[in-house]
Amino acid sequence: MVRISSTNFDEVYPIWANHLWKGRKSGIEPTNPIRFGGGYDKKLLLADPFFFKAVDDRSQRIVGVISGFATHDNGFRLRGVYVDPYYRGLGIANKLTARIIKLGEVMGRDFVWTLARQETMGFYQRLGFEQTSNWINHEVEFGPNCFMSLPLHSERFELVLQYHFWNQSFSGNQSFER
Ligand SMILES: CC(C)(COP(=O)(O)OP(=O)(O)OC[C@H]1O[C@@H](n2cnc3c(N)ncnc32)[C@H](O)[C@@H]1OP(=O)(O)O)[C@@H](O)C(=O)NCCC(=O)NCCS
Repeated sequence: MVRISSTNFDEVYPIWANHLWKGRKSGIEPTNPIRFGGGYDKKLLLADPFFFKAVDDRSQRIVGVISGFATHDNGFRLRGVYVDPYYRGLGIANKLTARIIKLGEVMGRDFVWTLARQETMGFYQRLGFEQTSNWINHEVEFGPNCFMSLPLHSERFELVLQYHFWNQSFSGNQSFER
């Protein structure tokens, strides 16, 4: 069974450094200074991040991670989603993302946003995210990327909740068989 629960930067860091951002030149911090829509805000490095992990309880191995933190403009950034290739296609990233979306909602943020990779854009679109910038391929190490956002408290958000997360607990354990 694969179970989702909260975790911390120390547990997520090796997955980010060895898989999601393997070979990354810039340092990997618990948060990131990129602003929604472009530019930098160093104050974002002081934001309070949340981390979630998906663990296969047979091996106790972490097979998926995600993080999120509140940003300027009353947004909530979704960052660093990664699922081990062997465990992909089971809905694990959907459930990890649901934790971040729900956190953004309960914290009263207006929208959840991310800096998406081109090859992952479809994943976010299925969750109701829309592209909000042109493709960016300078000053990014894993581009092209674009900004994408999902407005919370909107009709679209309600549809996303019903379609993807209907009748599922956001706070309880969720499990997947592999
Ligand atoms: C993107 C990623 C996190 C998806 O993980 P996953 O656990 O396989 O995703 P899920 O099983 O929850 O898929 C959810 C839905 O998105 C779709 N999907 C998954 N990856 C997709 C992709 N790259 N493009 C388009 N659709 C995708 C699935 O088909 C599924 O659709 P459905 O709800 O209609 O059935 C995983 O492929 C990954 O770790 N990729 C490498 C890291 C990465 O690129 N991270 C994002 C950086 S912006």
